[in-house]
Amino acid sequence: MKVGIIGCGSIAKQRHGYEYFHKDGVEIGGFYDRMTERAENLVGLYGGRIYASVEEMLADASIDAVSVCVANAAHAEITIAALNAGKHVLCEKPMAVSEQECEAMVAAAKKNGKRLMIGHNQRLSPAHKRAKELLSEGRMGRVLTFQSTFGHKGPEMWSADQGNHTWFFRKADASFGSMADLGIHKLDLVRYLVGSEITSVFSTMSVLDKKLPDGSPIEVDDNSVEVLQFANGTVGTVTTSWTYYGEECNATVLYCEKGIMKLYADPEYSLQIVNADGSTERYALDRMQTNDDEQMSSSGVIDEFVDAILEDRPSILDAEDILRSMKAVFACLRSAEVQKPVQP
Ligand SMILES: NC(=O)c1ccc[n+]([C@@H]2O[C@H](COP(=O)([O-])OP(=O)(O)OC[C@H]3O[C@@H](n4cnc5c(N)ncnc54)[C@H](O)[C@@H]3O)[C@@H](O)[C@H]2O)c1
Repeated sequence: MKVGIIGCGSIAKQRHGYEYFHKDGVEIGGFYDRMTERAENLVGLYGGRIYASVEEMLADASIDAVSVCVANAAHAEITIAALNAGKHVLCEKPMAVSEQECEAMVAAAKKNGKRLMIGHNQRLSPAHKRAKELLSEGRMGRVLTFQSTFGHKGPEMWSADQGNHTWFFRKADASFGSMADLGIHKLDLVRYLVGSEITSVFSTMSVLDKKLPDGSPIEVDDNSVEVLQFANGTVGTVTTSWTYYGEECNATVLYCEKGIMKLYADPEYSLQIVNADGSTERYALDRMQTNDDEQMSSSGVIDEFVDAILEDRPSILDAEDILRSMKAVFACLRSAEVQKPVQP
């Protein structure tokens, strides 16, 4: 399978390029970024050629699949063009910036008979996968309530455009702030773990600290809190933040009929169970991948994308399912605006 990567910033360098490079059966065809030196940098690291434009890469019949790793606002246009050009697509999260765009992406994949997956690496983290197995087996009983948090010091420390001029802080390129940037991971994760659909959301979003270069507040939220109600009765909260200075938090705690399940709440034991009788079990499965990781490492997303295509099987990353999580994100945006609960 020959792949191309569009957008050559941090996620392309640290995950997509790195993971394709180490994946058996994959050849990297090349890279495109509107800043050519970024594409050159990744060609230097992972091989392949530089393409002069998206159109040039998509017109290359030898390319079977592309990764879309550009700023959020350009996800849909490039993804749809790639699907129409007959390529499979792995698009980064958040899928796109409107419900209509997300639906058009899914429709384009169907129309062209190509695969569209979204880079939801949290579904593939070892402790999350194990949690899903245990919940499916009934080990914890029903999830009654939960708290899921994703907070770090901000995308301006991670983006290839380091500093507060980053596109992540601008509505035109990012469209969303921490709520969709980080919240999509957790909304999608709890939907997946609870195994029920989100029927109502209540969200509040704020700009507490981040500033643009001229000292004015950033154009998108840097903190948010969401209350999610599920069809099966589960109610819980998601918290997102770009202002957790000093240490990231990526913890999900599920309070279930038979006890408590803690995921990535401890640096050593990524899965902990507190049984209803107070006894505890601790499993050191892995450490959560964070934006502070200096070493490049595998998220499992590329393995899943490539294997699902080659094995012609459904994937946990299929866009059609992730579209439902995105609908909850758009409902959160509406809810924060009207300050009322909203149904996705
Ligand atoms: N799965 C995850 O956990 C995760 C983590 C980080 C970022 N992301 C997502 O990946 C995407 C990229 O983020 P990043 O952190 O790599 O950002 P980045 O700022 O490091 O890099 C983005 C790159 O895209 C290029 N670009 C932007 N718009 C373009 C366009 N229209 N055509 C060509 N190139 C374009 C920029 O020049 C830049 O090099 C975002 O959607 C982000 O939300 C996902």
